[in-house]
Amino acid sequence: MVKMTNVLTTCTKKVFVSLVLFTVSMVADAKPATFLQDFRITWSDSHIKQLDGGRAIQLVLDENSGCGFASKSQYLFGRVSMKIKMIPGDSAGTVTAFYMNSDTDQVRDELDFEFLGNRTGQPYSVQTNVYAHGKGDREQRVNLWFDPAADYHTYSIFWNHHHVVFSVDEVPIRVYKNNEAKGIPFPTRQPMGVYSTLWEADDWATRGGLEKIDWSKAPFYAYYKDFDIEGCAVPGPNSCASNPSNWWEGLSYQQLDPVAARRYRWVRMNHIVYDYCTDKRRFPVTPPECLAGI
Ligand SMILES: *[C@@H]1O[C@H](CO)[C@@H](O)[C@H](O)[C@H]1NC(C)=O
Repeated sequence: MVKMTNVLTTCTKKVFVSLVLFTVSMVADAKPATFLQDFRITWSDSHIKQLDGGRAIQLVLDENSGCGFASKSQYLFGRVSMKIKMIPGDSAGTVTAFYMNSDTDQVRDELDFEFLGNRTGQPYSVQTNVYAHGKGDREQRVNLWFDPAADYHTYSIFWNHHHVVFSVDEVPIRVYKNNEAKGIPFPTRQPMGVYSTLWEADDWATRGGLEKIDWSKAPFYAYYKDFDIEGCAVPGPNSCASNPSNWWEGLSYQQLDPVAARRYRWVRMNHIVYDYCTDKRRFPVTPPECLAGI
């Protein structure tokens, strides 16, 4: 039920075999698993490289391809986090994404982090979006209070019956509450996989598509480590997702604690650069979840 995942190497057969033995013998204790046990490459094997004895990976974007990986399991509620170091220098037109997705087109649930690159010295934007029961169009953007390409930072998605919280280094940047009682869709029924991709999106990503990718700066590299998924894997014991003793359903996780709430207010006051809730041109009628209480 509770599971920690680290990216580990398959660089040498010897290391791999000993890791498999190690992991098999520890299954009962749900000890750290290998990258290959929990993740698979979904797009362009040749563009994902394992580093540092497999504890980190490098994603590559060049003129031939971007790349992506996904969890083998889907999860229903829990928390997923990873440390990411974004593309340094001129990253305009690139998007590094980390998200959860139910893979059910018509009634898709999806929770997105999208890191939008920029020209050298210009700030990255972090866009978040929430799809519930097939409806998205809930974009928000924040600028970061640090350079995300200078070092690794922790990005996490927390998801329980009460809310979804997107955090950066333990600072909540977005909260989407469960207001199903008021008829507002919330992802409660479908498990979601964990995904990450690095790709080119210069038709929209940077300054609305004005800034194009400078391929003379390619290849572009993003780095990931410390993958951590704690949730109810599906398929798995049916009762897991509704078990109130899961830590993420605990009383102290049903709303932001006072410290997190203060940090969240600070982000809302100082770092929001776009909020669909206040975009009257797109939404002359304010979307109901925006009124239901942030
Ligand atoms: C890129 O930099 C420009 C200029 O500072 C800024 O307006 C924009 O919001 C930045 N981010 C993106 C993703 O365009």
